Amino acid sequence: MTTVVKTESARPVTPLGILVEQLEKIVKMAETVEIPLELSDAIKTAYQLGAGIDPYLEENTTQESTALAALAEKTRQEPWSSRFSNSETVRQLEQEMLSGHIEGQTLKMFAYMIGAKSILEIGMFTGYSTLAMAEALPEDGRMIACEVDQYVSNFAKSCFERSPHGSKISVEVAPALETINKLADAGETFDLVFIDADKKEYIEYLKILLDRNLLAENGFICVDNTLLQGQPYLPPEKRTLNGEAIAQFNRFITEDPRVEQVLLPLRDGLTIIRRK
Ligand SMILES: C[S@@+](CC[C@H](N)C(=O)[O-])C[C@H]1O[C@@H](n2cnc3c(N)ncnc32)[C@H](O)[C@@H]1O
Repeated sequence: MTTVVKTESARPVTPLGILVEQLEKIVKMAETVEIPLELSDAIKTAYQLGAGIDPYLEENTTQESTALAALAEKTRQEPWSSRFSNSETVRQLEQEMLSGHIEGQTLKMFAYMIGAKSILEIGMFTGYSTLAMAEALPEDGRMIACEVDQYVSNFAKSCFERSPHGSKISVEVAPALETINKLADAGETFDLVFIDADKKEYIEYLKILLDRNLLAENGFICVDNTLLQGQPYLPPEKRTLNGEAIAQFNRFITEDPRVEQVLLPLRDGLTIIRRK
């Protein structure tokens, strides 16, 4: 008898994904009531415009490597909710944390564009963005990835072993603040930093990167989830703790005279920062 492994289905976690889900509901509701043809056509067009974006981006972006595709599939197959349901850990890990093809390819392109030789990642999960960026590093390039969870660290390392670029990656398993302070003590600097760990610590990560010169002189910082499902611009009563943390981070960065930045509407929001 074959065992059927039921994979968990991903819920929408980007402003676009949530918008499309809402539009889908509206299309279905509109089919059950008598409305003018013009209104029903407008609703359908709005839905098609939104729902078509992500698949079109996928179709027109270079395919991910075999190692990245395998890592994404392994992450999708993992029963995250049952693995962590009885856990004492407060950190709930889920497949939606994985950045994926378009964001991975974007980060990889940034690494190529600036000729990065050293990359720091704060928040690795199963290692998708880690490996995507490592693929753009030269042979002697290095990547340090911070991750607090031992289980996902082992998960990621087993995937890195299957890539020719895996040997460029070192994983530091500890709270990120501890790791980055240690790296600063050692006088390390990085050409590219990707922040994607605890949203409530984002301001602290940024301060340490700038104040303690972990960012190389002409380096760039990419920060994930800076649109946090739309929460920073939706009415404040819809904000979770993470939404509030991101709203505060976005305000903090716009008021810091040392840097300039752009918030790109890529996936759940990606902010690119450089020192002036
Ligand atoms: C959104 S996921 C990272 C996704 C990954 N960058 C990717 O693109 O697939 C966030 C990760 O940060 C880790 N994390 C959360 N708080 C942390 C902390 N204080 N120190 C280090 N890692 C942390 C979580 O365990 C989780 O694996």
